Amino acid sequence: MTGRIAYTKPSITELEVAYATDAARNGWGARCYDYIHRLERDFAAHLGVAHAIATSSCTGALHLGLAALGIGPGDEVILADSNWIASVAPVVHLGATPVLVDILEDTWCLDPVLVEAAITPRTKAIIAVHLYGSMCDMDRLLDIGARHGVTVIEDAAEAIGSAWGTQRAGSMGAFGTFSFHGTKTMTTGEGGMFVTNDDALFARVTTLSNHGRDVHEPRQFFPLVTGYKFKMSNIAAAIGCAQVERINELTDGKRHIMARYRELLRGANGIALNAEPDGATNGYWMPTVVFDPETHVTREMLISAFQAADIDARVFFWPLSELPMFEARPENVKARDIAARAINLPSYHDMDDAAQARVAEVILCLTKA
Ligand SMILES: Cc1ncc(COP(=O)(O)O)c(C=O)c1O
Repeated sequence: MTGRIAYTKPSITELEVAYATDAARNGWGARCYDYIHRLERDFAAHLGVAHAIATSSCTGALHLGLAALGIGPGDEVILADSNWIASVAPVVHLGATPVLVDILEDTWCLDPVLVEAAITPRTKAIIAVHLYGSMCDMDRLLDIGARHGVTVIEDAAEAIGSAWGTQRAGSMGAFGTFSFHGTKTMTTGEGGMFVTNDDALFARVTTLSNHGRDVHEPRQFFPLVTGYKFKMSNIAAAIGCAQVERINELTDGKRHIMARYRELLRGANGIALNAEPDGATNGYWMPTVVFDPETHVTREMLISAFQAADIDARVFFWPLSELPMFEARPENVKARDIAARAINLPSYHDMDDAAQARVAEVILCLTKA
């Protein structure tokens, strides 16, 4: 197999094309919300939650949920230092203070012991981000939240197909958010979803997401609060409806790719792959390799080895506290250290065995060097 190996690409079949075509042809006027409402229904059913609101992005869904909880200036929100900026940006935009804690060595998710230690009277929420599909310890986080009166939120953008026991990622917190960006396991191009079992929170987010217009307000164009515009289009939702119909195929595909990487890398010394602790299911959005410190393999060596092999691999998220707009947190040793010796591997849906073997070969060479 020759040619560039892409990092991710969506799985689009005739079903997505047919639904999107129908939405483009017919989804206007009285039918302009048909696919949006269907996607919300189907996604809520898939997840086992009471309510879902389709949004233009996961970032928007998170912003709406945090705003609906009343999070703002003077409040603190705890999340892991190892995260994409999207999980923390809404906290900052709402004027609250992010508190970045270190991660666990195996799951790369926030460490519950450090979460509890970081709680102050100003703490309003904990954002459990299931990094790369790896589940946060929801039992411990929900227990900490309950004991301290702090709301636990799930950013499940990367965790479609992941579960904690029998409960799907995103269904356990006060609310959950999802991303349907083109790189995700399920896509609408750009898009996201807010989900919750809380009727009152659902009502508040519905109003906020509709420019502050309450569904019970009889006057047209009469917002009661200043809201937001983070809506999904009907055409994007049509693609999403097809993807939800195929959700098991899409999530099984990710698990299959991860299983094949495990086989190909079985003999390799000095590396760790995505964890799946007992009782958790990892949706494996992003197969990832972390080299042991003793191998002396670095992020920079990994980038150049994959570039030389014409493979589009991506660096592990930089700790947010290493970005210029956040305060340094040198005590977050694991977040800094793991990112400096890790790489995300390609994992698109129809990746064939030859492509996976080519990726594995780069890693195997580095472990032998
Ligand atoms: C954990 C996490 N949260 C939020 C987002 C933001 O998603 P979106 O691009 O749909 O806003 C992403 C996207 O990469 C993500 O990985």
